[in-house]
Amino acid sequence: MSRTALPLFPLPARPNGDSLPVGNGRGLIDTFGRRHTHLRISVTDRCNLRCTYCMPEEVVFRDRSELLTFEEIVRFTTVAVSLGIDKIRLTGGEPLMRRGLPDLVEALHAIPGLTDIGLTTNGLLLPEQAEALRAAGLSRLNISLDTLDAGRFRELARRDGLNRVLAGIDAAKSAGFDRIKINAVSLRGFAELDTLPLARFCRERDLELRFIESMPIGAEPWNRESVFSAAEILELIDGEFGPSQSVPDQDPSAPATEYVYGDGLGRFGIIASITRPFCGACNRVRLTAEGKLRNCLFALDETDVKSLLRDNTPDEEIARVIRQSVHDKWEGHEINTARFLKPARTMHAIGG
Ligand code: GTP
Ligand code: 5AD
Ligand code: SF4
Repeated sequence: MSRTALPLFPLPARPNGDSLPVGNGRGLIDTFGRRHTHLRISVTDRCNLRCTYCMPEEVVFRDRSELLTFEEIVRFTTVAVSLGIDKIRLTGGEPLMRRGLPDLVEALHAIPGLTDIGLTTNGLLLPEQAEALRAAGLSRLNISLDTLDAGRFRELARRDGLNRVLAGIDAAKSAGFDRIKINAVSLRGFAELDTLPLARFCRERDLELRFIESMPIGAEPWNRESVFSAAEILELIDGEFGPSQSVPDQDPSAPATEYVYGDGLGRFGIIASITRPFCGACNRVRLTAEGKLRNCLFALDETDVKSLLRDNTPDEEIARVIRQSVHDKWEGHEINTARFLKPARTMHAIGG
């Protein structure tokens, strides 16, 4: 699909007296020297599942009028790209529940300077939407699937849906997506049973499986013992396929550590946010569905950009607010310390 020639927003001039040592044409660099190039955009807080580790069973979702419009998302993204963002990922809730999502993908795809548009989905609506998303210019798909057992799926997701997710994966492949990643949250009590079936399933279908250590960002109480750790996952995988080989980091900012299975047949990844935090290489900022800018998944403070977008604020001011947020970013989540504070939002209202 060809890109329409939209004018690139000019790099915002640094106002006189601005003391921020960030931006200024060199990118969104924070006080720890981390260059921010990824923007994760949540397009809705709604979801058609209710995964226990992500959200409460009863939720009051935001009214449609509270959400950023597609035009507002595109404008914000265009300013962010002018500051050095080159990859975006659309998230939710469940992003495919936002009506007309392919239209947003198409408009984002037309922003010069954006090299990659990804989407993280639970897959339920992919049978209907995979082709349109591909045609609109979506580059990459990550699909969540924690278990291949229908009973455990229902227990974790508080809804049925396994067969639809499997159909969604098939639809994504038929639509031409390659390098599809499967995200499996690793929880004790489930992962012992699910790790190897998921590994076999993904190897057979050329899907890259990533195990994610469960994080304290859901509605349920979290404790360290409930995390089925990277070391435990590796022990199971190595026992079945032989000693895994870690792959040198191609992208040091990617959360997953990659491995080749011991028998050499395929790769998998582990996102070890708890036992091997990767905050030191973080390159992400996040925009929530109702227009709050978050400089960390676990951020306690956020910046409202919806009011700026609705008040006809000039791009220069929006750029200044983005640079300020990156400047204010802390060193990392501190989950492993007594200082850790859980954010008020649960995962479904941030987007992962
Ligand atoms: P690609 O590397 O582009 O494939 O995307 P990704 O792995 O960042 O995206 P995805 O949405 O699939 O992320 C998978 C999971 O990794 C998320 O649901 C989070 O659990 C975790 N994750 C992603 N980004 C971060 C981050 O910045 N910090 C932490 N702690 N976890 C993250
Ligand atoms: N810990 C780790 N990952 C989580 N996700 C949702 N909640 C959690 C959690 N508490 C992941 C989902 C999905 C992505 C959007 O977020 O599995 O891949
Ligand atoms: Fe980045 Fe925050 Fe995630 Fe750490 S926890 S990697 S700082 S978003």
